[in-house]
Amino acid sequence: MTRRVRSISPHETTVFDLGGLTPLVGAIDDPANGMYLGEDLMGRPFTFDPFELYRRGTITSPNQLIVGQIGRGKSALVKAMVIRHLALGRRAFIVDPKGEYTALGAALGGLVIKLTPGGDQCVNPMSSHGHRSRDKQRSSHLSLLETIAATTMGRSLKPIERLALEAALDGARREERQPSLRSVVGRLLAPTDQVFASLQIDDRSVINESRDVALELRRLIDGDLRGMVDGQEHLDLDEQPLVIVDLSALYSSAGLSVVMVCVMAWMQQVLSDRQGHASQALLVIDEAWALLRDVNAARWLQSAWKLSRAWGISNLAVLHRISDLSAVGNEGSEQRALATSLLLETEVRTIFAQNASELEQLTRRLQVTEIQRDLLVRLPRGTALWQVGATTQVVHHRVGRFEWAMIDTDQMLAP
Ligand SMILES: Nc1ncnc2c1ncn2[C@@H]1O[C@H](COP(=O)(O)OP(=O)(O)O)[C@@H](O)[C@H]1O
Ligand SMILES: [Mg+2]
Repeated sequence: MTRRVRSISPHETTVFDLGGLTPLVGAIDDPANGMYLGEDLMGRPFTFDPFELYRRGTITSPNQLIVGQIGRGKSALVKAMVIRHLALGRRAFIVDPKGEYTALGAALGGLVIKLTPGGDQCVNPMSSHGHRSRDKQRSSHLSLLETIAATTMGRSLKPIERLALEAALDGARREERQPSLRSVVGRLLAPTDQVFASLQIDDRSVINESRDVALELRRLIDGDLRGMVDGQEHLDLDEQPLVIVDLSALYSSAGLSVVMVCVMAWMQQVLSDRQGHASQALLVIDEAWALLRDVNAARWLQSAWKLSRAWGISNLAVLHRISDLSAVGNEGSEQRALATSLLLETEVRTIFAQNASELEQLTRRLQVTEIQRDLLVRLPRGTALWQVGATTQVVHHRVGRFEWAMIDTDQMLAP
């Protein structure tokens, strides 16, 4: 049975404006095209499947942004999508900075990894899970190391620092089957002759030149961020369709963004090595603003965003406000440009109610018609504007009774 969304009052509008609210192409409301998520303003079922839309060419990448004020139903939607993706045989990995998904993980029998400084759980963003070529692995490890170093130092690396990092990585890769941050940093702090040979620099001043990088990276090994992403993991992930990494212990720490980068890199590694699993997976990054506030992390996120497509990963980032994206960096800065392109390149945007102060940003940055803009400040809980490729719809998200017990973060049953 379908019901109309009750809380939105009827509009008088022109056919032209109405065009923005109704599907222009059939792809996203054809029930055969994906999982049922709810219904549009006309009471018609709304279905969505990023992989199917990508396959059909309706969108050129399966990534999604979910934006909305607190309490609007973002997490409920993400959790319902996770449940429904899993039911289709897909995997879902979740970066969970607030520890909001642990109940869902427990209910679905997923693996919940809680990372705490000095704790007993660890993931290795440099671990290899098999099928990627060594060259590809090397370049993704190098770009991860550079990002981590630049993020912790708050500046880009000098050429000599980059070279030292590269040599340390190569040393670790030569000698260990599974390199780790710990082994790379060990080599940076005390380079071996082999490292010097590969640098082709006799002058041992390279040790001093790369000292800052080594000392900053030590934070992840012996400092305030120790023991979470620096060692080997002992996890059996092959049979795990659902993995949640709980970072709530770091939520208000300045180190959150660097650990988020490491965890996301680790998830991408695991998910890109198929090993008999369904090739499609959802990678959720909740509280994604924490990555965007740092230019190096934002740069890394953008390249990860692009790469994922080739690996069959749909990244799903959750933000509070569109201005989370434009509040980063100064006007004209690289950081601002990165955030803006992330927004524009993401072809699936789900926008829950926004503050009136956000409207100017919205109309400027996204193709939102005036009528949609007016709606956006009054959308009731659970209702969002969906922009999917060239199509825009207002959708009320429906959660099944059996799903609420796993989803409801406020522990109160919805009607
Ligand atoms: N589609 C929905 N229909 C009815 N109530 C909803 C819906 N989505 C969310 N809610 C209610 O709103 C509360 C807050 O939702 P939540 O997803 O945690 O918000 P957010 O993540 O945006 O802060 C939930 O606990 C739930 O009771
Ligand atoms: Mg939430």
